Amino acid sequence: MHKKINVLLINGPNLNLLGSREKEIYGDETLYDLLDNLKKRSEKLNISLSHVQSNAEHVLIEKIHSSKKNNIDYIIINPAAFTHTSIAIRDALIGINIPFIEIHISNIYAREDFRSHSWLSDISQGVITGLGFDGYYWALETISKRCCIQKK
Ligand code: DQA
Repeated sequence: MHKKINVLLINGPNLNLLGSREKEIYGDETLYDLLDNLKKRSEKLNISLSHVQSNAEHVLIEKIHSSKKNNIDYIIINPAAFTHTSIAIRDALIGINIPFIEIHISNIYAREDFRSHSWLSDISQGVITGLGFDGYYWALETISKRCCIQKK
């Protein structure tokens, strides 16, 4: 087993509404359901998972900035609508230089044209889009594998 990995999960605006928001796109499970399942999976993978959800861009940016002093090894981020607008979040992630995986519950390429552009994808380790909540689980699995190789 690898050393404990510190992962920060960031969920952007309106993801607090999961379970009631546009269920035909985002499903009927809540953010609480998602976190509960991810916590359980993290324990099995020897990952310490911290989480922030905010509707405010500056809160997410400050959390990204504090990742260094909090010894975060990896970030999983669903920037939600900030994906398509936020150069500030892009710059924050470049500034801290911690690897991250970008997640979208829906397939952003199969929706309105404005969702096809992400300010984060090209600086991410990879993007998972359209796999529902499973995308978050796959991100955890990938991090576990990658950090296992680096930290042994
Ligand atoms: C989303 C896709 C974004 O376009 C949208 O603004 C969201 C959620 C997703 O998880 O599918 O709020 O990031």
